[in-house]
Amino acid sequence: MRTIKVGLLGFGTVGTGVVRNFQRNAETIGKRLCCNVELAKIVDRDVAEDRGVQLEEGVLTADVEDVISNPEIDIVVELFGGYEPAKSFILKAIANGKHIVTANKALMAVHGEEIIAAANRQGVSVMFEAAVGGGIPIISAIKENLCSNEFSSILGILNGTCNFILTKMTESGGDFAPELQKAQDLGYAEADPTFDIEGVDTAHKIALLSALCFGTTVDFDQVYTEGISNIAAIDIQFATQMGYKIKLLAIGKNYGDQIEVRVHPTMIPKSYQLAEVNGVFNAVRLTGDFVGPTLLYGSGAGMDATASAVMGDVIAISRDKISGARSRVPIMGYCADQIKALPIKAMSEIISHYYLRFTTIDEPGVLAKIAGSLGKHNISIQSMIQPESHTVDSVPIVLMTHAAKEADVSSALLEIEDLNITSQPTRLIRVEPNL
Ligand code: NDP
Ligand code: HSE
Repeated sequence: MRTIKVGLLGFGTVGTGVVRNFQRNAETIGKRLCCNVELAKIVDRDVAEDRGVQLEEGVLTADVEDVISNPEIDIVVELFGGYEPAKSFILKAIANGKHIVTANKALMAVHGEEIIAAANRQGVSVMFEAAVGGGIPIISAIKENLCSNEFSSILGILNGTCNFILTKMTESGGDFAPELQKAQDLGYAEADPTFDIEGVDTAHKIALLSALCFGTTVDFDQVYTEGISNIAAIDIQFATQMGYKIKLLAIGKNYGDQIEVRVHPTMIPKSYQLAEVNGVFNAVRLTGDFVGPTLLYGSGAGMDATASAVMGDVIAISRDKISGARSRVPIMGYCADQIKALPIKAMSEIISHYYLRFTTIDEPGVLAKIAGSLGKHNISIQSMIQPESHTVDSVPIVLMTHAAKEADVSSALLEIEDLNITSQPTRLIRVEPNL
């Protein structure tokens, strides 16, 4: 029986999960694959640390060349993370004829075009299922099972760390910092966790999903990105009172001649399925013209779930190799010459509902002035909460608006700021009442 040899770059959280999956399910994988797949080499700068798995002599090495330039290796699995040197190693491995599997969303979202062009020239595969949604098979669903559909939108809770933190803050009223530490201890967070909490990791993922769904390149710098670090306990309390949950939502929409790609905290009605996605779980809601709205749900981060996605790609490439298939599925789901460059709609042009929390001074006419400014800018108020307060200089007024244009909301808030009736910056959270 033929043996496919795999080389792993990175023996950290996900790398260790991949080794565990290889070892524990070797027999099952062999039965499904009809060939042998062997983890021949693992590279990490630390070859001494005990990672709780046994390896044969000679498998672990600190020399990257043992994988990327090793003529015996068929598939290189990149789990170093980050832009460099991961990119250079992948490009060298491609030049050496290796197929690539990576979980590196940052690299694929920002430098994917260069990597894919190199792979297409060389006739090798690049697969990155683990880069989005942990163990959820969303990329293969878009590229294969649902590929007869035109997709109009893709919405997702795509960062396990943020969803874990927001869930804990909602359930227990807990503070942000200790929950982030727990997510890091559980292996969910990025090496630099600001990528998680400031929404960058989610933006990498929705950029990739939008490109795959809508057949376009996505300029990552144009993706509006706002994280959860400014979410205050009081906003979670008001959201709960009004029947909403706050989630870090990734939004991709297709208008034919332009797309929306954005990431920000979003209030969604408690009764919606996405509102029930808690903890490290992720979910993606994809709408195709034939399949209709479709929800995929599962563990969005962590050693084992992510390893499952990596292994799925390893097995897919191995199957292609043993059957002689070459580039059976285009790397981005569309033939390379069919990929467009659709512009991303400016944030000022988007339409949304808004939660606005003003912190005002307690004097006659304040509410009328706020309502007047909003009305002047075509913003209609849907509901209002003004709890009784025992201080005169920081009274919260919470307004929920009907659908409004972001540019109008920004203009109204600037005008209200100039009225000298607020004592703290106004908090704005976008609301999606009609998913
Ligand atoms: P880790 O930091 O746990 O593992 C990376 C490992 O690679 C570390 O041991 C690191 O060593 C080593 N390494 C990095 N660069 C080099 C280098 N140049 N030479 C030798 N060794 C190197 O990261 P994760 O396993 O969590 O993540 C890996 C990738 O998977 C990232 O792209 C991440 O975004 C992605 N991912 C992670 C998920 C998760 O749940 N953790 C989920 C989905 C995707 P050192 O620690 O010394 O730097
Ligand atoms: N840091 C990421 C998260 C890992 O928390 O979702 C999974 O991509």
